[in-house]
Amino acid sequence: MTIALQAHHLTKRYGALVACDQVSLSLLSGEIHALIGPNGAGKSTLIHLLSGTIAPDAGKLLMGDRDLTRLSPHARVRAGLSRSYQITNIFKQLSAIDNLMLAVQAHAGSSFEFWRPRCADQALRETAIQLAGQCAIDQELWSQPAGVLPHGEQRKLEFALALAGQPSVLLLDEPMAGMGPDETIRLTELIASLRGQVAILLVEHDMQAVFRLADRISVLVYGRVIATGTPEEIRANTAVRQAYLGEEAA
Ligand SMILES: Nc1ncnc2c1ncn2[C@@H]1O[C@H](COP(=O)(O)OP(=O)(O)OP(=O)(O)O)[C@@H](O)[C@H]1O
Ligand SMILES: [Mg+2]
Repeated sequence: MTIALQAHHLTKRYGALVACDQVSLSLLSGEIHALIGPNGAGKSTLIHLLSGTIAPDAGKLLMGDRDLTRLSPHARVRAGLSRSYQITNIFKQLSAIDNLMLAVQAHAGSSFEFWRPRCADQALRETAIQLAGQCAIDQELWSQPAGVLPHGEQRKLEFALALAGQPSVLLLDEPMAGMGPDETIRLTELIASLRGQVAILLVEHDMQAVFRLADRISVLVYGRVIATGTPEEIRANTAVRQAYLGEEAA
């Protein structure tokens, strides 16, 4: 197993509060790694430290031999560290496929320009269609303006956009939030289908989804990782049950 991303003692303080306290965590290539813990444990802060939207007070972030700690969020995306954002980075007037074509082109840079424009356009479109299919975006909506897509379809489009750059790591902070039961099931299936293709760090409160999806789980409490292990190991861990899972894991 190779390590896709390694956090070493990442620390973030807000005044006297230590939101992330020397967090060390490794993501294995292609694994689905869930990050769970009580409200305010520091999960979103850690996602921000990894994506680069917050700078750590101490610690390091490595991708292979490469030190990402001082890189901007954009440079991290270029290095293969992607994050699924909310609706905001979707162009609402453009169709889902056009949004995906733009994203693929943005990541591929000049490599599409070597072909004649029509061929390049075709290659972009094929990649966009493949992503839309993989993320199970309703085909009847592919050419509709993205802004009119139902919430669940926009979520899938965000996923597809995040995958357009073929990242090696994908960060997901509560992707099921605000979704109905059917959409949650579909999104769970979509995340499961990415296993082996991209290392996923998944912050999620839905324990059913977490225990169904995760290869490994890390538990964060008061900014500290108190355990990392397989779902079975985490379920059986006394400290985890006391701090977070309680009867839910019984
Ligand atoms: N910008 C900020 N300034 C001050 N304190 C902050 C800031 N952002 C987060 N915190 C605090 O840091 C702690 C960790 O917050 P964080 O949002 O990372 O928790 P979380 O685990 O994502 O919680 P939730 O499950 O509710 O999303 C909390 O006590 C929070 O109040
Ligand atoms: Mg949070």
